[in-house]
Amino acid sequence: MSTRPTLPANRRPITIPGLFEMKRTGRPIVMVTAYDYPSARAAEAADVDMVLVGDSGAMTVLGYPSTVEVSTDEMLMLTKATRRGVEHALLVADLPFGSYEVSDEQAIATAVRFVKEAGADAVKLERGDPSSISRARAIVGAGVPVVGHVGLTPQSATSLGGYRAQGRSAESALRIASGAIGLQEAGCFSIVFEAVPSALTVELMAQMTVPIIGIGAGPATDGQVLVFHDLLGIREGLGARFVKRYASLQDEMAAGVSAYADDVRTGRYPGPQHGYSIEEPELEAFREALAAS
Ligand code: KIV
Repeated sequence: MSTRPTLPANRRPITIPGLFEMKRTGRPIVMVTAYDYPSARAAEAADVDMVLVGDSGAMTVLGYPSTVEVSTDEMLMLTKATRRGVEHALLVADLPFGSYEVSDEQAIATAVRFVKEAGADAVKLERGDPSSISRARAIVGAGVPVVGHVGLTPQSATSLGGYRAQGRSAESALRIASGAIGLQEAGCFSIVFEAVPSALTVELMAQMTVPIIGIGAGPATDGQVLVFHDLLGIREGLGARFVKRYASLQDEMAAGVSAYADDVRTGRYPGPQHGYSIEEPELEAFREALAAS
């Protein structure tokens, strides 16, 4: 039996007003990361609402130890590949570390590249401090829609004390609240809450008028996002507490490649069905021509 979801024939592209309508009506927004054509096609087949080319791609597909190493050109390449596979979902690209911190002008220039060169519908930036809020306002002012990101912001994991939940003290929770409200006031059309206590999210949601997407932020947000490789088990180890795993593809990939290697080593592959034929007279003519040359 096919497990491919049945998609409505009249699917329309997801728009920003459409996301606000989903918030208003309480229909959960589904977001997933993707980094290339196949992951984008999987997201499309599942009819998700938003696809994020996350800078988590630094680790999931490029093998860097953290998100800070990935360059703008690398993120642009991942975004272009994803764009080719996304038709209906709203495509958001992460601005990588170092590509927007220097000035509002730098932030606008980088955001415009993601839209013009890679076809992103929107960009995402991390942190809710005054300088990130200023960057968000500048990018929105330049006409590029922006998603904010507060709580655990991996680009600043070192200053946050590692990859750990945020907002577990009143002081830290207040910082998250002021960041989220500041980003909303700066014109972000959506904000990601990452790794914050579920009860804090409930409190914050009362202040939020834009769609809030959670990852490790409990069920009170307007939607959820997970990293493609985490939810499908394309990784070693279990990952963060908030990850729910729906498949173990890393194991399946390793088993598939092992079976292939075994077949090659034992002569089971390739079989006759994997080869091409040539008519005997053509082969004979070839032999004669070769011998005469
Ligand atoms: O880079 C990423 O994948 C993200 C999500 C975890 C929200 O920022």
